[in-house]
Amino acid sequence: MRQDIKISVLIERDRIMKRVSELAERITKDYQGLDFVMVGVLKGSFLFLSDLCRMIPHAMSVDFLGLSSYGAGTESTGVVKITSDLTIPIADRHVLIVEDIVDTGLTLNYLIENLSTRMPKSIRICTLLYKPSNIIKPVPLDYVGFEIENKFVVGYGLDLAEKHRNLSYIGYIEPEAVK
Ligand code: IMP
Repeated sequence: MRQDIKISVLIERDRIMKRVSELAERITKDYQGLDFVMVGVLKGSFLFLSDLCRMIPHAMSVDFLGLSSYGAGTESTGVVKITSDLTIPIADRHVLIVEDIVDTGLTLNYLIENLSTRMPKSIRICTLLYKPSNIIKPVPLDYVGFEIENKFVVGYGLDLAEKHRNLSYIGYIEPEAVK
């Protein structure tokens, strides 16, 4: 992979923050008076979750879970594994999974199945990005930031081979550049 790949802006920082605050407003209403845990899926959701949770005024718990479904490339392998587990129990609590992007849906289907066995009161999903054209296994999405077309995106937490997570905007990379 080249080091000097061109990244074009898809969603600017201001639009991201406006949308995150709209999602936070809905979540604030929906979780009023409920005991809930926000579960961020590492590593891609770390910036989204940190902005989102600060816009929600309720007491809540935050935990993270590491999942890997991709190698160093851009195609889903379909094989999902937990690389680091939750540190707090979720039994009898409402769980809000916070994900960076839903592509094939394989990762979240695996995660929902796994977390369901731990007897939470409910599981809802909040994803910043959703690429509907790539879905293999549909996922019930409760909160969606942006539906995007089938482009490989980086920034605001998302990476290409562990780079570009630190961009403040969401950009896309032309397919030739990621081969
Ligand atoms: P899925 O299992 O195919 O839905 O993939 C979900 C995971 O794939 C996400 O949490 C990301 O880590 C990764 N992913 C999918 N599409 C992209 C992308 O365009 N850029 C960066 N990561 C992606």
